[in-house]
Amino acid sequence: MKLNTVYLAENLEFLKNIKSNVIDLIYIDPPFFSGVDYKEFSDLWDSLEDYLNFMRVRIIEMHRVLNKTGSFYCHCDPNAAFEIKILCDKVFGRNFFRREIIWNVGSVSGFKSQVKGWVRQHDTILYYTKSENFTFNKQYTPYKQEYIKTMFRHMDEDGRLYRKRRGGKQYLDEKPGNAIGDVWNDIYSFQTTTRSKEYLGYPTQKPEKLLERIILASSNEEDLVADFFCGTGTTLAAAQKLNRKWIGVDNNPKAIELCKNRLKIN
Ligand SMILES: C[S@@+](CC[C@H](N)C(=O)[O-])C[C@H]1O[C@@H](n2cnc3c(N)ncnc32)[C@H](O)[C@@H]1O
Repeated sequence: MKLNTVYLAENLEFLKNIKSNVIDLIYIDPPFFSGVDYKEFSDLWDSLEDYLNFMRVRIIEMHRVLNKTGSFYCHCDPNAAFEIKILCDKVFGRNFFRREIIWNVGSVSGFKSQVKGWVRQHDTILYYTKSENFTFNKQYTPYKQEYIKTMFRHMDEDGRLYRKRRGGKQYLDEKPGNAIGDVWNDIYSFQTTTRSKEYLGYPTQKPEKLLERIILASSNEEDLVADFFCGTGTTLAAAQKLNRKWIGVDNNPKAIELCKNRLKIN
């Protein structure tokens, strides 16, 4: 398997040819069982069972190829998030379910907001690890300058800012902001911001900021990141930017073309 490459392939066949325990981080954004036939790919299924069978065999393979210290993020929406959770619990083990991340995709206008009942405003990202010994780098939303000025008023001989705490000092460089929790309100989605330069017009394309957060938290530089439903290559572009190795797979030639242009590879 050549790294830093995108493959035009059926992902199950591709996965079967990968050795076990070699990938550090897998993020997937598969079809959601939405019943929509996008021009670029179909999310139409004969039944929920049919969809879950499709997902099951692939998640089993992804679990196999994941490194023992690795992490798995599965992006879902309300169409099948609960069923996918049960499926992943079976494959990874319930103990290795780490968190349900709620990504606020922003408030919608137009026909989506006319729905009877609460307007849908979030996606769910299920986060699992393969063992107890997993990579995690805590992420922070940085403190505002004003807050730093008022709270971190002391400086050590070596120039490090700190605040006094009962029992000692708390250094700004050790806790540079508020630790990010499992509800993400600060990343726009293309559902609301289609004019972004990053947006390639591909249905359900995700923003790089979302992937940057996941990659920074659950991998280190030089680790291998994979996305087996890579679409326009959002995961791969973020991985490249953050000095991770990566591989991407999609069975749609249009997606692979977009990835290649985006990543400037042949
Ligand atoms: C929701 S899109 C991913 C979008 C992507 N996260 C992005 O930011 O551009 C899902 C992708 O999975 C691909 N796909 C669906 N079934 C597949 C399969 N069996 N093998 C490989 N790719 C598949 C589709 O072509 C589509 O591009």
